[in-house]
Amino acid sequence: MRFRLNGKQVDVRAPAMKRLLDVLREDCGLTGTKEGCGEGECGACTVLLDGQAVNSCLVPFGQVRGRSVKTIEGLRGRHPLQDAFITEGGAQCGICTPGMIMAAAALPPNATLDQVRVGLAGNLCRCTGYMGIYRAVKKAQGSGLKAQARTRAKAGTNRTQKAAR
Ligand code: FES
Ligand code: FES
Repeated sequence: MRFRLNGKQVDVRAPAMKRLLDVLREDCGLTGTKEGCGEGECGACTVLLDGQAVNSCLVPFGQVRGRSVKTIEGLRGRHPLQDAFITEGGAQCGICTPGMIMAAAALPPNATLDQVRVGLAGNLCRCTGYMGIYRAVKKAQGSGLKAQARTRAKAGTNRTQKAAR
């Protein structure tokens, strides 16, 4: 079955009713996505499907045909959320962390603290007490917005330079 996985077109042979979680871990070798409850309650298995956070333990593989899946590996260890979870104490044992980060990655870039709380309400963490997680998401939003502003400023400078030529 063909679909996009972390930005690349892939063709994976697996039964249509196999859980996306298992296809990712067993057939694609992407073990960053974790299993907690296996029944849609904990969010540990969260991935992005066409940009929306979903519990991959509840998604039959057949539903991803022609669609786009992003896992924690797709952030390549360089996403501001990944840095912020480390520096703000958003990760302890780490079981919830990939799912938590993927759920956070689906939030709007300027989400309020209340929106962050609601957006992550389906992701359970038994270690951190959540405050480190919320701080991490807000910090990552700050650095993401600064990076966007730098990109916009650079694009503006380039346009000005071209116009001056
Ligand atoms: S393992 Fe999927 S929601 Fe818990
Ligand atoms: S860091 Fe252990 S469950 Fe969240």
